[in-house]
Amino acid sequence: MTDIITEQATAAASGAAATERFRTRQHSGATDVDAKRVDTLATELITAVHDIVRRHKVTYAEYDVLKAWLIQVGQDGEWPLFLDVWIEHVVEEVASENREGSKGTIEGPYYVPDSPNLSAEATLPMRDGEEGTPLLFQGQVTSVDGTPLSGATIEIWHADNDGYYAQFAPGLPEWNLRGTVTVDDRGHFRIHTIEPAPYQIPTDGSCGRLIAAAGWHAWRPAHLHLKVSAPGHQLITTQLYFKGGSHVEDDIASAVKPELILDPGPAADGNGHEVTYDFVLDKA
Ligand code: DHB
Ligand code: FE
Repeated sequence: MTDIITEQATAAASGAAATERFRTRQHSGATDVDAKRVDTLATELITAVHDIVRRHKVTYAEYDVLKAWLIQVGQDGEWPLFLDVWIEHVVEEVASENREGSKGTIEGPYYVPDSPNLSAEATLPMRDGEEGTPLLFQGQVTSVDGTPLSGATIEIWHADNDGYYAQFAPGLPEWNLRGTVTVDDRGHFRIHTIEPAPYQIPTDGSCGRLIAAAGWHAWRPAHLHLKVSAPGHQLITTQLYFKGGSHVEDDIASAVKPELILDPGPAADGNGHEVTYDFVLDKA
């Protein structure tokens, strides 16, 4: 049984939480990007906008709609959401272009560090009777040369059967479906959880209004989020999807890659599904 959620998840509340989370991680927000890079990137961005205005003969009415919308995105706290849905996948593509190991993809706005520590065979924190198909997610972490990485950790977080993330929607236990797993001495892990539901971008905020106004859809396919790290190796931030699931082919965040699609089969113990996926980490 799902707990009765008395408070509804709102874009403004999850946006505010995602904005606050980002601020905490970035400390003051001011970082040391070189002035020449700022000059180049800001100039090219502004020039690209000028080109669009000229090419499409953008009107004052449209300019004012844009201005009002940009102001509202900030008020809703939805900048992390907007950027992670429409921009981050290209930043990730550039950042990982020289990787040989497992593919990464976007982090998204809902990562929280320091989730509860779990051993190599673990069940993620979840409510009594947590809804959703049970999933055993298992595998091994190795280096690109095939060496098992016994010191590896896997941070995993995902939405529940209603598409909600703990700490970003009301009524969920703090660490629901979030954990940090330490692999065993052969790099193996066995994580018991439930299959998440597809995730819908909040429809009641400014990103939702853009999606509706443009006639797009608001969905991401169901996914597990992961950060896999080991001493002397590059951390991978990734997501894994489910073959045949809704919106695997048309993720609004453009974050699906063919290598990231799982195909779970029936679990050996008859309880739900199981799937094996191995992570290969590049050397640092
Ligand atoms: C967003 C949500 C996600 O769960 C995700 O993985 C990526 C982006 C978002 O709402 O922006
Ligand atoms: Fe997500």
